[in-house]
Amino acid sequence: MVTGNTEPLSLLSVSGILPRGGTILGTSRTNPLKSEENKKKLLSNLKKQKIDYLIAVGGEDTLGVARYLVSEGVKVVGIPKTIDNDVDGTDQTFGFDTAVSIVTEAIDRLHTTAESHQRVMVVEVMGRHTGWIATVGGLAGGADCILIPERPMTIQEICEILKKRHARGRLFSIVVVAEGFNLAGADQLVTKDQKLDQFGHVHLGGIGEVVASEIERHTGLETRVTVLGHVQRGGSPTAFDRVLGTRYGVEAVDLIHNGKFGAMVCLRGSRITHTSMGKAMRKLKFVDSELIRTAEIFYG
Ligand code: F6P
Repeated sequence: MVTGNTEPLSLLSVSGILPRGGTILGTSRTNPLKSEENKKKLLSNLKKQKIDYLIAVGGEDTLGVARYLVSEGVKVVGIPKTIDNDVDGTDQTFGFDTAVSIVTEAIDRLHTTAESHQRVMVVEVMGRHTGWIATVGGLAGGADCILIPERPMTIQEICEILKKRHARGRLFSIVVVAEGFNLAGADQLVTKDQKLDQFGHVHLGGIGEVVASEIERHTGLETRVTVLGHVQRGGSPTAFDRVLGTRYGVEAVDLIHNGKFGAMVCLRGSRITHTSMGKAMRKLKFVDSELIRTAEIFYG
């Protein structure tokens, strides 16, 4: 929402940005709703900059700010963009496919070294409070166990899967763990520190280490951890994300032409359409049980 780019907005062009990740506007995760003063500044800046319409591109935080602006009479439409894929009201957010392809490649690479050294490799991935990246990346990479917030598991259950696999002569394993996963019975999420971000979110991270040391302790299998971190959020987007972002952009401009402010573009099956931002933001979109079941078939 806050632009750090000094170039006049009218000079910025979308030409040539298809292969680029990141932002050309200089936007970042800033919460302009934190104080009454900032809210006023935000509204007056929009007026000063003569911004007639706004397309808010982001996840729950950005779209939350967009909803506030709609309530203040600003003409806004939303585009769901986050690697987490947790925005309800759309089948897919853009950025997700790129993150999944990075996770898949990492798992492929870890397979080779896991096999040579006969180790358990624990891969910690992002996704905040949902397990989309872990589930889809894990399925694509052929993970032997996927740990997600939607499905808490005990360490005994996890180790049982790995021990059975070992007994079948498979002497290495890949375990994908979402940063928001918690061992069944644990009362607190594992976080990097006590700090909260601009929107009041905890800094998730560290569950990979916890799971790995528990696996080693319970099974005696040599275990290593890889935390993929922000690598999942960088680089050039996949072809799918480029096309999805382009289609979302076209639909967003159409929504503006048609005066449908407060709407969010979305993907339903293979069709691009729209929904209301309010509806889309009511709850997080969690991994559905059908997809979890599919992943579980391949555990062990
Ligand atoms: O929402 C996207 C996301 O990458 C999450 O998956 C992750 O928990 C968080 O952002 C990390 O935030 P930051 O870049 O502030 O560390």
